[in-house]
Amino acid sequence: MSPSSSRPARKAVIPVAGMGTRFLPATKAVPKELLPVVDRPALQYIVEEAARAGLPEVLMVTGRNKAAIEDFFDRTPELEAALEKKGDAARLAAVQESTEVAQVHFVRQGEARGLGHAVLQAAAFVGDEPFAVLLGDDLIDARDHLLEQMLAVQAEHGGSVIALLDVGRENIDKYGAVAVEPTADGGDVVAVTGLVEKPPVEEAPSSLAIIGRYVLAPEIFDVLRETAPGRGGEIQLTDALATLVERGEPVHGVVFTGRRYDTGDKLDYLKAVVRLAAERDDLGPSFTAFLREFLSELPVEGASSS
Ligand code: G1P
Repeated sequence: MSPSSSRPARKAVIPVAGMGTRFLPATKAVPKELLPVVDRPALQYIVEEAARAGLPEVLMVTGRNKAAIEDFFDRTPELEAALEKKGDAARLAAVQESTEVAQVHFVRQGEARGLGHAVLQAAAFVGDEPFAVLLGDDLIDARDHLLEQMLAVQAEHGGSVIALLDVGRENIDKYGAVAVEPTADGGDVVAVTGLVEKPPVEEAPSSLAIIGRYVLAPEIFDVLRETAPGRGGEIQLTDALATLVERGEPVHGVVFTGRRYDTGDKLDYLKAVVRLAAERDDLGPSFTAFLREFLSELPVEGASSS
């Protein structure tokens, strides 16, 4: 076990340098991480999740055209003063909550050379401690405590811990895929014995995919510095984790069976907005009533519309 593994993780790294091409033209001027999921940017859910898990220090790895993200996490004294003057306490609280939830820092990636390269930009911020990485496309329901569980597994076993989801064999080529073995912990905690980034379906070691939550040992930085470009010509975090496994460093997986909302492409994004809106106390009752009516009016598939 590495000496650093006895320290608890306190810092979270959120890569936000991606170009968001799947949401063009919306993302020409607005970073995809700020697209609203109901009434909050997707990224706010992620920062809140990190803070809830006890990681109040957040580093965002940004790129070109992402200045709006820095603005979002900055205070807005004029707006706050205006809301205060109007006596609009609810909106004032919503605005303040978005900036007070965590201490957010920024670093620029410079060149878009892949997720592994983005994580490497966090080396100075993280230092010699385990740390979490949260990817913005995966939202985890606040009622499910995935990151907390991963942090507990890391505190117990040391090394690194990744979140896994059974996506079915037919979908595995869109993800990092893993080979696993059961552990004495049983249940949803597994030992990772191999990883491969986006393998062809027939070569995938299992249908277990890496979803966007990692708790990483700081040793990952040295490995990333030596990791050659892999899939897509990019420096892959998955490849660096595979090297840690080959070196005999502990890498565990937590198999998630809770509620995950994928916002990575248009259809998944729409599903996430609908599901999250339906579950909200304030909007849910009227929204689900509307959905029921809307669905009942939809033409039945295959029926002729004469
Ligand atoms: C990244 C990782 C991949 C992981 C996925 C989870 O891929 O490289 O291993 O399965 O995130 O969302 P991306 O979606 O950035 O292509």
